[in-house]
Amino acid sequence: MSTIGYEAWLRYPQLTDVLRIEAVSRWSGCMIVTEASEVIATAAAELKRGLERMLGVTLAARSSCDSGSGCIAIGTFSGGNESIARVFGDSGAQLDTGAEGFAIRTDAESGIIAIGAEQPAGVLYGVFHLLRLIATGASIDELDIVERPVNTIRMINQWDNIDGSVERGYAGQSIFYENNTIKSDLTRVEDYARLLASSGLNAIAINNVNVHHHETYFITERFLPDIARIAGIFRRYAIKLFLSVNYASPIETGELTTADPLDADVKAWWKAKADELYKVIPDFGGFLVKADSENRPGPFTYGRDHADGSNMLAEALLPHGGLVIWRCFVYNCKQDWRDRKTDRARAAYDHFKPLDGRFMDNVILQIKNGPMDFQVREPVSPLFGALPATNCMMEFQIAQEYTGQARHLCYLVPQWKEVLDFDTYAKGEGSYVKQVVDGSMFGYKHSGFAAVSNIGDNANWTGHPLTQANLYGYGRLAWNPELSAAAIAEEWTRLTFGSDEHVVSTVVSLLMGSWSIYESYTAPLGVGWMVSPNHHYGPDVDGYEYSKWGTYHFSDCKGMGVDRTLATGTGYAGQYREPNASIYGTLESCPDELLLFFHHVPYTHVLHSGKTVIQHIYDTHFEGVEQAEQMLRSWNELEGRIDTETFKLAGDRFAEQAEHAKEWRDRINTYYLRKSGISDALDRTIY
Ligand code: GCU
Repeated sequence: MSTIGYEAWLRYPQLTDVLRIEAVSRWSGCMIVTEASEVIATAAAELKRGLERMLGVTLAARSSCDSGSGCIAIGTFSGGNESIARVFGDSGAQLDTGAEGFAIRTDAESGIIAIGAEQPAGVLYGVFHLLRLIATGASIDELDIVERPVNTIRMINQWDNIDGSVERGYAGQSIFYENNTIKSDLTRVEDYARLLASSGLNAIAINNVNVHHHETYFITERFLPDIARIAGIFRRYAIKLFLSVNYASPIETGELTTADPLDADVKAWWKAKADELYKVIPDFGGFLVKADSENRPGPFTYGRDHADGSNMLAEALLPHGGLVIWRCFVYNCKQDWRDRKTDRARAAYDHFKPLDGRFMDNVILQIKNGPMDFQVREPVSPLFGALPATNCMMEFQIAQEYTGQARHLCYLVPQWKEVLDFDTYAKGEGSYVKQVVDGSMFGYKHSGFAAVSNIGDNANWTGHPLTQANLYGYGRLAWNPELSAAAIAEEWTRLTFGSDEHVVSTVVSLLMGSWSIYESYTAPLGVGWMVSPNHHYGPDVDGYEYSKWGTYHFSDCKGMGVDRTLATGTGYAGQYREPNASIYGTLESCPDELLLFFHHVPYTHVLHSGKTVIQHIYDTHFEGVEQAEQMLRSWNELEGRIDTETFKLAGDRFAEQAEHAKEWRDRINTYYLRKSGISDALDRTIY
């Protein structure tokens, strides 16, 4: 297997600039490490690997500083490492690094760069941070850094199935499973753990939220020894393991005839399960649950609600410190398209808002960023900010199910930033989503980020070489939502491709432009979908129009869009607090990019941009294709500047994207020309 894409942002290519090598070598005479913890051993191994690669030397590990040689010391503040104590003195504990933060300080006097933390996990993050600084060309001569993650849960969700498939996976098969077993060789899982930890992530749910028959047995002795093996790998990287569970497990395993959360036998069954689990995996994170959603079982079957349902599991996990992460993606997926009152967008809020305050402290509601399903553009879920008395966390999707599926480039960090920076007005102006999910707004006990992974067993993990940036960017954003999308893009590019400034500026601008380009040639003005049913790749304007999934655009000969206003529509706009409710609910103030999500308008309606809706559709679709073609040209200019394999692989994808964008353009433009009978003002070719 080629290693270039495989090593992703952990390539650490040898430094070539002589002055730079000297500047780093000055501090890299040896590594001082004295503690025996597993995570610190990982940190030491990472530091050794990274520095040796970049400097082309061998880095000795010592227990004290051989003065004059310039050393890097790593350890906890109270772990007995004299060099750490020497650099931080008594101040270490006062640096407020928390359970996962770290401090890095260059101490010229002693010739030591010290990476100190309260806990081993912080030491590991500190090591990755220092390596990142070196690899991206920062000076390390005067470091004085204190970092701590803003979010406590920084989680990745694998949608992997035991048969080796990955639901909504676009980068090959699972790295965890094959042929209904857990792989015996888990080397790749370990390498994945490195990638996750180095981007700052600390939790993983290793199986699909749709828990089918075999996976139901993950929490039984049939699979637990192997699951414990996986947990052991992630533990070395300070990553906690969670499992998705089947709500009907007691029935599916044949042990009970009900899964009613208020039934005494059901409660006892889950308690016994939890006890069994924690015997094998003492630091097990908890359960991730998709219940009463898309045909999955749940408490509704028994006339119970989701507080009853999740609290029952939470009680079982509580004595062990485990969490229940309960998804809010609950809606009627058997809707009648003739019925215009039922609105899928309303569902999560309608289900969960009335339950606020009824969930146990170790339950967290995991809310998708938008009310629908990871579309290229949709509003922010009104549940953020609406649950002051219930722990909440964010769910993003790194896998680009609706945004090009690793065949089109769509760097999603700018989209996530918009979501996080959305003002909920929950506590007046300035009540941003990021403060809801980091727990600070309402003092949540548990909160943070989750996201659906985009990796598989492809040689380069993500299929499209550049969509590694989404995985990396997700981790960095979960650590610190204040980082800018451009800064993350640049960091990733330098780590991945080195410091050729032409490469850096080209790749960063490709990444930064890609979301808006993808949006421009796909579903317009926030209406969403228009994708081929089931696999969701490529255009099909009416693919879901007369279906049960609740995802419509209502186009006719006069106009299009979904009326979600309070006055005449489904009332969804009223789920927001003011002023958002009025801004979205009023045609004049609704932002263009979400117009068709909230309003049904004639094709001749004039946008804030000054264009009519129909002309906007034509223009953006023509421009989107031109921009996609330009992306290909820009990429091709990098020939010879990056490795040939990556160059070819990404080049093929850009070519496919440019070609496929035309399919989108022509299908959508033709559809709307035929529906509206209004021709393009510029008279371009529409079929
Ligand atoms: C989407 C996706 C499904 C997935 C679901 C979920 O609808 O298409 O494959 O199971 O989201 O988030 O549970």
